Amino acid sequence: MTLAYGGYQYRQSHLENISLGEKVTELEESLRLSEENLASAETEKAQLADQLNAEKARVDALGEQVGEISDTVGDLDKLSKLDPELLQKYSKVYFLNEHYVPSRLASIDSEYLYNEASSQQIHASVWPFLEDLLQDAANDDVTLMIISGYRSFGAQASIKSNYSVTYGSGTANQFSADQGYSEHQLGTTVDFGTPGVSPTTLEFQNTDAYRWLLDNAHKYGFVLSYPAGNTYYIFEPWHWRFVGTDLARDLHQDEKNFYDAEQREIDTYLLNIFD
Ligand code: DAL
Ligand code: ZN
Repeated sequence: MTLAYGGYQYRQSHLENISLGEKVTELEESLRLSEENLASAETEKAQLADQLNAEKARVDALGEQVGEISDTVGDLDKLSKLDPELLQKYSKVYFLNEHYVPSRLASIDSEYLYNEASSQQIHASVWPFLEDLLQDAANDDVTLMIISGYRSFGAQASIKSNYSVTYGSGTANQFSADQGYSEHQLGTTVDFGTPGVSPTTLEFQNTDAYRWLLDNAHKYGFVLSYPAGNTYYIFEPWHWRFVGTDLARDLHQDEKNFYDAEQREIDTYLLNIFD
């Protein structure tokens, strides 16, 4: 009985040992599989992370492209609202027909007029620059006044014909543009004066007002169109044209005149002329 019982016990523990061994093998196998799964999951995770990064880079690049395209669309829209005439060289070269009028004109405050009885207008987008110039000059104790601003095709025709009658057309051509060729028709150009000096005469070159303009006008986007020795007209120290602060600054830095610069180069400044 004891023996039989012992035999039973032996079988029992043998069987248990076998199933324990199988269990361990099973567990080891499942551990191995788990480790394999984990390794392949990690590989997959790394691949997915790579894909995600590549996708992110693609989205970023697309975003940049969209940004660039919308900048370009913005620039084109801005350019479509700007007259290319604004930065063309007019003097005896380009022609504005009788229909060309600035997109919007503003009246120059009467306090700045050389002759209060003769109202003057300026391109509405230039007025804030001109007003700053006039105020800053006044703050520096320099009195600048406007003799003439925008002149229509018709107004220029009648001025030129009067000058031609008075001085003869040869002389008139040296200081007065034919209709269609005057920068005044653009609305961006003014003739400055100062008290006590005859308007639009060479006396103006010896004034503090002129010296102030030479040092400062570029900061407000204005350049002297006809300096001494230019090939178009006599020296006109009073006649200043708005070309935008970037171009005026660069011309001033390079000691270059507007009419000496390449039209191709000048055109690159049109987009930001009123910025
Ligand atoms: N005095 C300049 C040349 C004009 O008439 O536009
Ligand atoms: Zn002028």
